[in-house]
Amino acid sequence: MRLQGKTAIITGAGSGIGEASAKIFTAEGAHVAVVDRDVEGGTRVAQEVGGPAFFLCADVASPGDMEAMARTVAERFGRIDILFNNAGVSCVGALHETSEQEWDRVMTVNAKGVFLASRCVVPMMIAQRSGNIINMASGASIMGLAQRAAYSASKGAVYALTRAMQADYCRYGIRVNALVPGTIYTPFVEGYLRRHYADNIEKAAEDLKKRQLSGTLGTPEDVGYAALYLASDEAKFVYGSALVVDGGFSAGKIFD
Ligand SMILES: NC(=O)c1ccc[n+]([C@@H]2O[C@H](COP(=O)([O-])OP(=O)(O)OC[C@H]3O[C@@H](n4cnc5c(N)ncnc54)[C@H](O)[C@@H]3O)[C@@H](O)[C@H]2O)c1
Repeated sequence: MRLQGKTAIITGAGSGIGEASAKIFTAEGAHVAVVDRDVEGGTRVAQEVGGPAFFLCADVASPGDMEAMARTVAERFGRIDILFNNAGVSCVGALHETSEQEWDRVMTVNAKGVFLASRCVVPMMIAQRSGNIINMASGASIMGLAQRAAYSASKGAVYALTRAMQADYCRYGIRVNALVPGTIYTPFVEGYLRRHYADNIEKAAEDLKKRQLSGTLGTPEDVGYAALYLASDEAKFVYGSALVVDGGFSAGKIFD
């Protein structure tokens, strides 16, 4: 029970890594607000999680939704201990192939969404003199990945923002850390494979596995347990860090 009695908001918890994290956090004693703009996924996850968890339909790109989210959770649980800014969208393409609309969509959800959600929750954490924020970055935050111009820019912003937030909020007992996953097999990656490699999904999945020293793709739980660590008091000395969970993708390459 590493999160006994803690309250947590997890955005994008209706699927993938957010879903796994909602289940892990709840199993460790947390009261979780399952936040997602997808009503079907969010409702399903909140039901499966059970206990005090509840679904809150909200778009992280909407300032009004984020204000309502912070207000609702504060009213319901009385405090907000953990904010996991996990919601995100993907975008494939080199810079010259990326439309302005796509750029804005990805930057708005992935980067501005972290700003909007945190801006609404931080005042309560400051008042509490404690809090824990986990921002979802990506391998694309720290490495150049082909065909990921807008996505990389958005996740690079999340990585930089994490450290800036930590510098501002350490004095209030708030820790802010980032997660840096490699390729994790979720609907996010499944959709990408289906859209771009419809003729040979299995081969494409094998190629992705070969990029990671582990030779496997990560699972949502692999990242959920890393989030649990950052959210727990075991990580009380971990400030402004980027925890890499990537099966060795960024560590090195094997040349056979
Ligand atoms: N899967 C990977 O390989 C991988 C690798 C690195 C980083 N990430 C990041 O992890 C996070 C979760 O990814 P996942 O693989 O679990 O994806 P996923 O698609 O399975 O889940 C993402 C969830 O976020 C929700 N969402 C999207 N936009 C939203 C918005 N504007 N407001 C509220 N909810 C929104 C979706 O409805 C969905 O339920 C993302 O930020 C992603 O960029 C994923």
